[in-house]
Amino acid sequence: MPEDNFPDERLVEPAATTDEVVLDLTLRPRQLIDFIGQEQIKETLNISIQAAQKRREPLEHILLYGNPGLGKTTLAHIIAREMQGPITVTAGPALEKVGDLAAILSNLPSGGVLFIDEIHRLNKSIEEVLYPALEDYCLDIVLGKGPAARTIRLPLNRFTLIGATTRLSLLSGPLRDRFGHTFHLNFYEPGELEQILRRSAGILGVALDETSTALIASRSRRTPRIANRLLKRVRDVAEVEGKGAVTTAIAERALSLLGVDTLGLDAADRRLLVALIEKFQGGPVGLNTLAAAIAEEIETIETIHEPFLMQLGLLERTPRGRKATAAAYAHLGLAAPKIQTLL
Ligand SMILES: Nc1ncnc2c1ncn2[C@@H]1O[C@H](COP(=O)(O)OP(=O)(O)O)[C@@H](O)[C@H]1O
Ligand SMILES: [Mg+2]
Repeated sequence: MPEDNFPDERLVEPAATTDEVVLDLTLRPRQLIDFIGQEQIKETLNISIQAAQKRREPLEHILLYGNPGLGKTTLAHIIAREMQGPITVTAGPALEKVGDLAAILSNLPSGGVLFIDEIHRLNKSIEEVLYPALEDYCLDIVLGKGPAARTIRLPLNRFTLIGATTRLSLLSGPLRDRFGHTFHLNFYEPGELEQILRRSAGILGVALDETSTALIASRSRRTPRIANRLLKRVRDVAEVEGKGAVTTAIAERALSLLGVDTLGLDAADRRLLVALIEKFQGGPVGLNTLAAAIAEEIETIETIHEPFLMQLGLLERTPRGRKATAAAYAHLGLAAPKIQTLL
């Protein structure tokens, strides 16, 4: 990849590239013990899995929510594997007709796992088919129309639904209530990201020293997928400009080529903050206006940039809109306005 493509490149993409899908698959942990961090979730899961196996029952339905790249899909596959059940994978936007879901449900084997990614994007009529399936393991099918219409109930095999979402608030109450467990995946601690990086470096055959590991971890937005992606880029630079081994200088160079700064912000994060400060005097400004000013999707800002910028204390959400904090001015080396509006 030519170097001058690097600085403007977006570090976190809403839609994964083929390259990234392959990387995700290669580095995806297959067992609960390889899944690093999220200790409380693992502990609860472990108990539920063992209990369900003892009772020879399927696991209760599970909802996983959290930012992109924190391990929802990985965890869903691990759960299915631990339960020794086959997994069927689909996504909210992929289910267009009621019949699509009905076909999937009626083909699920006993003890199988159905994974619905982006479950907040299921449409209403499809969601309604899901309710009796989740509660009573059956499918209500309406035959005919008008006064002659009647409903028949088809029994289904007992299965476990695992839903994943980045936007819990967009899930309807009735759907949320039907999950036995709701797990919130949190951002990772630097030490956990270092463990993930060491494991990935082992799989990719990259020699990574301690300082470089810590450096990459600290720039990874507390997100495993990003840690892995940075590692891959660092490896590229090491192969082209070094002797293959990753030194701190190589890691630094790769990160600066990528436009990843000391806090882990990429070009798109900085563009958002700079626009907020330069075009709107630091805000508050409405999300729609801000999105239009930087030609960015509202959803991308809400799911990708904002949570991380807020986590770092660079951005604030107020009832009147988004505001840049004093820390944002300082990080970008911009002078904070002298007269701050108090509201
Ligand atoms: N807890 C973890 N331990 C190790 N690697 C992880 C962990 N969580 C995520 N990953 C890595 O990050 C990648 C992205 O995770 P994924 O499950 O696809 O995230 P999500 O579905 O939440 O967007 C995976 O391929 C895996 O390599
Ligand atoms: Mg996923």
